[in-house]
Amino acid sequence: MVDPASDGGADSTVEAVFDAVAATAPEIRAALPGRRVESGTENASGESVLAGDLYADELLGEAITAVDGVGSFVSEEREAAVDAGGGVGEGAYAVAIDPLDGSSNLRSNNAMGTVVGVYDAPLPATGRDLVAAGYVLYGPITTMVVADADGVREEVIAGDDGGVERSVVETDLRLPDDPLVYGFGGRVPDWPADFTDYAREIEDELKLRYGGAMVGDVNQVLTYGGIFAYPALVDAPDGKLRLSFEANPIAYIIERAGGTATDGEQHILDVEPEGVHDRVPLYVGNEELVERLQAALA
Ligand code: AHG
Ligand code: MN
Ligand code: MN
Repeated sequence: MVDPASDGGADSTVEAVFDAVAATAPEIRAALPGRRVESGTENASGESVLAGDLYADELLGEAITAVDGVGSFVSEEREAAVDAGGGVGEGAYAVAIDPLDGSSNLRSNNAMGTVVGVYDAPLPATGRDLVAAGYVLYGPITTMVVADADGVREEVIAGDDGGVERSVVETDLRLPDDPLVYGFGGRVPDWPADFTDYAREIEDELKLRYGGAMVGDVNQVLTYGGIFAYPALVDAPDGKLRLSFEANPIAYIIERAGGTATDGEQHILDVEPEGVHDRVPLYVGNEELVERLQAALA
């Protein structure tokens, strides 16, 4: 546990992490045009890594490990955790990031983002140990959504490496009560039958919004209400998304915004990880839609 009385308090560490992420965002964005190509390496999940993934990982790694109160740093692009100094062990946060989520969208010039989870426990840990989570969305506008115990806010980030301007545009983001959109990943023939049946129902009720970057697709759900899923697949029962870097932070944000998230059996935030690169099926959005889905999968 971080002692709020020591070195400025728990909240100041969380704020400093998001200051670091916001400060890095314009620089990452500016660097993308020249980094749409394969880097020639694979990450811990066995996926090929683009030059943009590596660059974002490097900049964010430097900025986040420099924050006072951050004891360790883990990234989708790094096999092992990085010791960040700042109060190692007791009294330090662990920060997990997906430096570029949806980076296959780089080549086609579509939305992508950065996902951040701030855990009050050494990783791997469950999402119940999150004290804050957020994401940067590189869309037509660069925005940052941050959730903590107080709620969910959205900021617009502008500027360059010479200086960053942040404006809070929403202070209490909530999922709309009347959901409008859905987005489901994976190939339809790879979906289990019970998920396909649910999808057929949802197609009658909501509009498809799927862009191939979880952050962009979840931001549609946060804005318009609805459900996002990267489901369990017949040959990949754990789906594709990673618990520590992707599913947990998104589940935390959506829960704080009044929605919920499941792996099909239990709340995402209750899933016990074995390792930091574990994958998990993710179904997230308005409560009514996610509960119906969980019942359909039972
Ligand atoms: P990443 O780029 O960090 O590996 O994440 C990609 C994820 C996620 O953003 C998206 O929901 C999903 O992969 C899309 O997968 P497909 O391209 O297989 O549909
Ligand atoms: Mn991702
Ligand atoms: Mn990624």
